[in-house]
Amino acid sequence: MAKLIYLAIASLDDYVADEDGNFDWAVPDEEVHAFINDLERPVGTHLYGRRVYETMVGWETDPTLADRSSLLRDFAEIWQAADKVVYSKTLEAVSTARTRIERDFDPEAVRQMKALTRRDLIVGGPELAAQAFKAGLVDELHLFVAPMVVGGGKRSLPNDVRLKLQLLDERHFGSGMVYLYYRIRRTR
Ligand SMILES: NC(=O)c1ccc[n+]([C@@H]2O[C@H](COP(=O)([O-])OP(=O)(O)OC[C@H]3O[C@@H](n4cnc5c(N)ncnc54)[C@H](OP(=O)(O)O)[C@@H]3O)[C@@H](O)[C@H]2O)c1
Repeated sequence: MAKLIYLAIASLDDYVADEDGNFDWAVPDEEVHAFINDLERPVGTHLYGRRVYETMVGWETDPTLADRSSLLRDFAEIWQAADKVVYSKTLEAVSTARTRIERDFDPEAVRQMKALTRRDLIVGGPELAAQAFKAGLVDELHLFVAPMVVGGGKRSLPNDVRLKLQLLDERHFGSGMVYLYYRIRRTR
């Protein structure tokens, strides 16, 4: 059975974007990017909220992104190779391959995807991820904490979910970013 992973880059006060929607302080440097490439390499499917999907499409539609370095080319290739499901009521069409739109988040359908595939899944976008957390579908949390306090904006984690976590690994990067890898402990 595959795992559902939530991966986010957030400020120390847990925002993925500040009140102006800005997240340039969360952009990974080469060291962090190389680490994220290796985390995402084995992933088979990305479940995206429409907003985060729109920030990611450039990895397929804008060749200048991959042209910047071999590391970014590697990431673009990893991203393009994965299947994507975009959750949206408004998006009329997608501009990337291997991508389908779902109009509603159906926890049972995601449970089936986890049961039927060997390769792990990633959920991206806090609004979408909140629904996966509430449905008890998320198995692991990979949180990159940027050395920033931004004071407000879009929270990475839902505020009405309680989770018991087991820390499996942690790492510090030269930029001051810290990686925290947790397994979600299921309590009955
Ligand atoms: N820190 C970083 O590294 C980083 C990276 C990328 C982006 N960001 C920022 O992160 C923020 C993402 O915020 P977010 O939480 O709003 O994004 P999100 O979860 O990616 O997208 C929310 C959208 O997903 C769709 N959706 C959610 N639940 C749905 C459901 N049950 N059924 C159908 N559609 C559903 C809706 O799209 P429709 O409105 O189309 O229906 C909703 O507006 C943005 O500010 C972005 O700029 C940060």
